[in-house]
Amino acid sequence: MTRRIGILNYKGGTAKTTTVVNLGAALAMKNARVLGIDLDPQGSLATCLGVKYEYSLRDLLLGLVEPNQCIAQARKNVDIIASDSALLEAEGEMWRMNDVREARKLLDNKLKQLNERYDYVLIDFSPSVSILSESGLRYIREIIVPVSTSYLSMIGTRQVIETLKNVSRIPGHRVRLYLILPTLYSPNLKQDREILGILQRHFADLVADPIRANTKLVEAPSHRKTIFEYSPRSAASTEYKRLAERVLRDG
Ligand SMILES: Nc1ncnc2c1ncn2[C@@H]1O[C@H](COP(=O)(O)OP(=O)(O)O)[C@@H](O)[C@H]1O
Ligand SMILES: [Mg+2]
Repeated sequence: MTRRIGILNYKGGTAKTTTVVNLGAALAMKNARVLGIDLDPQGSLATCLGVKYEYSLRDLLLGLVEPNQCIAQARKNVDIIASDSALLEAEGEMWRMNDVREARKLLDNKLKQLNERYDYVLIDFSPSVSILSESGLRYIREIIVPVSTSYLSMIGTRQVIETLKNVSRIPGHRVRLYLILPTLYSPNLKQDREILGILQRHFADLVADPIRANTKLVEAPSHRKTIFEYSPRSAASTEYKRLAERVLRDG
């Protein structure tokens, strides 16, 4: 069974793309077949991995190509469906569809042919609520929410906890909150430690081991590399591998 996992947080800069890239790469290193799909018109997934592509998700959604044509190989065992600002065009088209329910099912319908070709489909959500992200939510079955502990310390955890609880209550759909992934975690900061503690008290086993703040993760994309290619001995490399092991174990 293909596990369809959305990496989702309606806030930018919480390491969604970083997690799709490096969790995907780590799963692939364990011989899983991975497809990453970029649902963000900012389109950083292909850029981070240095992938050139002819057709993108826009073309698939507009019915111009078949899934096979817009899949680009990024690494051994890692394919992606890329996006860029042209995705907004497809989104406009989805808004214009007469039947909103059909629009919500669009991604699901388009990706049907790919069933069972991959062990994991990881969806990189955009931070905005849109018909496209609704369509993404219909497709996925599990959600990983990366939360930046340093950001939480600024806005307060209560609000985020409420939001996280709501994520698992999307009406009429069988999507489950699978993991909360603390990111940009600084264990030497008391505030970050406190926030991790609060998350663990509220969500217990749903909280994955944190990914610590690490400049290697910031540098790797500008070299078009995953953390395992750019800095295989970094703590971040170990931490993303550990995350992949948990995901494999829970499968
Ligand atoms: N653990 C980390 N430590 C330090 N910087 C990180 C970490 N994870 C991600 N970043 C950086 O934070 C920024 C936002 O990450 P990104 O994955 O693009 O977030 P999103 O996709 O949620 O907007 C990027 O510059 C990225 O390199
Ligand atoms: Mg992103």
